[in-house]
Amino acid sequence: MARYVITGGNRLEGTVTISGAKNAAVAILPAAILVKGKCRVENVPDISDVRIMLRILADLGAKIEYEAPSTIILDCTDIHSSCPNPEYVRKMRASYYLMGALLSRFHEAHVALPGGCNFAARPIDQHIKGFAALGADVDETEDYVNLKPGPKGLQGAKISLDVVSVGATVNIIMAACLLPGKTVIENAAKEPHIVDLANFLNTMGAHISGAGTDTVKIYGVEELKGGSYAIIPDQIEAGTYLAAVAATGGNVLVQNIIPKHMECITSKLQEMGVQFIYYDDAVRVISDGRLQHTTVKTRPYPGFPTDMQSQICVCMSIAEGISRLTESVYETRFFGYCTELASMGADILISGKTAIISGRENLSGAVVRAHDLRAGAALVIAGLVAQGATEVENINFIERGYERLVEKMNALGADIKRLEK
Ligand code: UD1
Repeated sequence: MARYVITGGNRLEGTVTISGAKNAAVAILPAAILVKGKCRVENVPDISDVRIMLRILADLGAKIEYEAPSTIILDCTDIHSSCPNPEYVRKMRASYYLMGALLSRFHEAHVALPGGCNFAARPIDQHIKGFAALGADVDETEDYVNLKPGPKGLQGAKISLDVVSVGATVNIIMAACLLPGKTVIENAAKEPHIVDLANFLNTMGAHISGAGTDTVKIYGVEELKGGSYAIIPDQIEAGTYLAAVAATGGNVLVQNIIPKHMECITSKLQEMGVQFIYYDDAVRVISDGRLQHTTVKTRPYPGFPTDMQSQICVCMSIAEGISRLTESVYETRFFGYCTELASMGADILISGKTAIISGRENLSGAVVRAHDLRAGAALVIAGLVAQGATEVENINFIERGYERLVEKMNALGADIKRLEK
């Protein structure tokens, strides 16, 4: 199994360019199923979740060409099946978007339950509630979701989500795009990638308004045609580099970002003593590595993202004083990676939804294991800070979502080796 061997202690200096957003890409690529015509998509990150999604689409009959390393032409005009290959569907979480996309296109879908990062119970009841409200007959088996039109057929509807769910919001937007009538999603998620998906679909001819607010309206259209679109930069990848520089100390220009998307993260790092200089599409992060304690509570956007919980936990582990980190999206997200950080010397006490972190002068290298994507990224940051060598195992999780992580970090002065065995 491949692993990273990290020699810690280097400051990070230089410039890093952020890739296209993973969570937007894994929604926008299956959304091309709705389009009869060529979708030219720029800023597609080369990460394993995207490769799996493209493989699923190709199996369904999509034509995929590369115009440049991160620009693809995706043509789903001739896809012929509403049953994607379960072997690949089970390899990633966001494959659940195939349900909404295929339901919209074929008025039926047969999709295996998704796999991916299992840092918590991740139910899809709100997705199912949405499909049923749109008139689908839903048959859930132990490992499949089968959707077909119910007795009254498929049509727009009003859906109020019981929990703010990114996945359900995306899935319902996709499912509703080609249905007759108007769909209203209340208590919708507001994450940047929801807006990005809606912008992509509108570029292709959909009629969606309100994305980025808690009420999204979708007016059904008869068909979507091709067009060209560029995926937004990855808020969480950028946040991971900011946290890494905060922890190691250094001075790095993080470019290709949307500054507004970063504020929920930079405001907390600023409280910890990190400096930021903003430009139109970049931010410079300056840190002397001496951090102060703070309090963070994860929340749906525009709150502090749960996907940055583990990275800021590393910063708190070496900050002066006692920090409190409360998780309000996925309660069990602390388990696993906090034990790994403890083996590196971090002092973390978990009490229900809150981790109480007593900052230590330093961490020390150890052999640790990534339990999911973001937890894995946090262990990399811990390794960059620690004295001595850290080995991070299970890096397949990290490579789901970070494009060329080793290359980008090493260009900033990190010392990470990727070993195959
Ligand atoms: C998405 C992101 C993931 C991020 C998460 C929260 C993608 C591909 N993944 O995951 O990186 O960590 O948002 O920002 O974009 N819930 C239900 N029922 C449902 C759906 C969700 O109870 O049907 C609950 C979940 O258990 C969780 C909360 O709602 O507590 C938010 O989950 P959701 O926003 O749906 O997360 P994902 O879309 O799976």
